[in-house]
Amino acid sequence: MKILGIETSCDETAVAILEIQASTFKIVSNVVSSQVQTHAKYGGVVPEVAARKHAENIMPVIIEALKDVLPSQILFTRRKFQRNLGGQAKTWGSKSAFNNTLTGVNPNGVAPVRTRQTTKSAASEINAIAVTQGPGLITSLRVGAEAARTLSCVWNKPLIPINHVIAHIYSNWLTPIREIRNPKSEIRNKSQILNSKFPNINFPALCLVVSGGHTLLVLMKNHGKFEIVGQTLDDAAGECFDKTAKILGLGYPGGPAIARQAEQWKSAQTSVGVSASLRKSKIYNLKSNIQLPRPMLNSNDFNFSFSGLKTAVLYKMRDMKSASCGIGADMSAEVLTKAEGTRRFTASIFINQMAYEIQNAIIDVLVAKTIRAAKKYNAKTIMLGGGVAANKELRKRFQEEIQNLKQPPHSPPVPRQVGEQGEIEGVKKQNLTITNQQLKLFMPETSYCTDNAAMIAIAAYFNPKKISWKDFEPDPNLMIK
Ligand code: KG4
Ligand code: ZN
Repeated sequence: MKILGIETSCDETAVAILEIQASTFKIVSNVVSSQVQTHAKYGGVVPEVAARKHAENIMPVIIEALKDVLPSQILFTRRKFQRNLGGQAKTWGSKSAFNNTLTGVNPNGVAPVRTRQTTKSAASEINAIAVTQGPGLITSLRVGAEAARTLSCVWNKPLIPINHVIAHIYSNWLTPIREIRNPKSEIRNKSQILNSKFPNINFPALCLVVSGGHTLLVLMKNHGKFEIVGQTLDDAAGECFDKTAKILGLGYPGGPAIARQAEQWKSAQTSVGVSASLRKSKIYNLKSNIQLPRPMLNSNDFNFSFSGLKTAVLYKMRDMKSASCGIGADMSAEVLTKAEGTRRFTASIFINQMAYEIQNAIIDVLVAKTIRAAKKYNAKTIMLGGGVAANKELRKRFQEEIQNLKQPPHSPPVPRQVGEQGEIEGVKKQNLTITNQQLKLFMPETSYCTDNAAMIAIAAYFNPKKISWKDFEPDPNLMIK
C-alpha cells in the first residue's frame, strides 16, 4: 500500500509517499519546502506569511512528490502538453495538466491524451491520504487540510488525520535517507530507495518530543496508546533556543545557530580548530564564568519551564553591554580603534560562552528528566523526536547517560552496540540506536527530526483511523488522547 502524507502545521510545506509491503517499507518520495529563509527576516515564524507560502507551495510540492510514483509520461510537462494537444495547450495552464495527472480526465471533456504507459494515475497508485490535523498554526494547517480533503474527494481515498506530536515520535520508525538537494529551489526532495525493515521498538517507551512548539514527555504503551507524563509550563525548548538566539543576535532558527556558537567555544577549550594566536589569547584561556539556571531540574514532576532561562540570558546580555561601553570620547583614533576591536572580540567570545551555557542548561534538564521518567515508568525504550532532537550535543549526552546508566562505578565502559536500524542490509551503519541492557535509545536520523511528511505517513500506517474528507477539520489545539 502507498500512503501520501501532507504536513503544513508550521513553516514547512511537506509531502511524502510511503510504500509498505509486509514488514518492509520504502519512502518513495519525501519533499520539503522550507520557509526558514523567509521567516528569518522577521526573526521568527509570521503566521500570515506562512499560510500564504503554504498556499503557493502546496501544489508544486504535491506534484514533485507524485513524480516519484508515476511514470514521467503521466506528469505532463507544459512542453509535452503543447506537443500532444497542439493549439489547445495555450488555453490549458499547468494547473489543467496537473488535474489531468490527478484524475486522468481531460478538463475539456475530451478523452485524455496519453502515451502507452499512462494508464496508471495517481488515484490508482495511492491508497490513503494522511494529513496533520494539529496542533499548529490554524492558517497553516488549513492549507494542508484543504489539499488533503480535495485529493481524498477526487481520488475517493480515505483520509487519516494525524497528530503532529505523535508523528514526531513515529519518525523513529524511519531509517536513513538519501538526500537530493536542488540548490536553485526551496524544495528539498529526499528519497529513500531501499526497502527497509521496521525497527524493533519495545514498549513501554518514554518519548521526549522537543520542537519549536512543544516540549513533552510522552509514555507510549503501544501503537495508539499515549499518555503525557510531563510538559513545559511556558516556553518550549526549541522556542527557548530561538528566543535566546534572538537576544544574542544570532538569527532564526536559533537552535542550529546556538549549536554552532557553542561548538566554537567548545573547540576553543579543547584547542581543536583554533588558530595559535587565538589559543594564546587570555580571553580564550579564561574558563567560562557564565552560569545560567537549570529551571525545574529538581522538581518532583516531569514538567519543564524555559522562560526563566530566557530572562536570565536577557539580563546577562544587558549587563555585558553596559560593562563593555567604556570607550571614552577623549581617546585617540588609534586607541579607539584598538578598544573597539577588543570590545568586539570580547563580545564575540561572550556570545560563544553564552551559547554554550544555554545549550548545556537546556540539555541538562531534558536529559535528567527524561531518564528519571524512563526509570519511574520502567521504560524499555527512550525515543527522541522534534527539531531540537537534531542537536548533536543532546544526542551525545543521551548516548553517554544511557550507556553509563547501569554501569557500576569504576567499571570500564560498556561497548556500544548498534541496534536494528544500523543492521539493515545496504544501509550504512548509523549510531541511531544504542543498547544498554534492556533500555534502548532511539533517535531519528537528523533530517527526520525537523518537520517532514514521511513521519505523517508512517504515523498513519500504525494508527489507521480512516475518515471521510467530509468529516475532517484541522484543530490548532489538538490534544494527545
Ligand atoms: O520540529 P520542528 O521542525 O518544528 C516544530 O514542530 O516546532 O522544530 C523546530 C525547532 C526550532 O525551534 C529550531 O530552533 C529547533 O527545532 N532546532 C534545533 C536544532 N535544529 C532545529 N534546536 C537545537 N539544535 C538544533 N540542531
Ligand atoms: Zn514539528
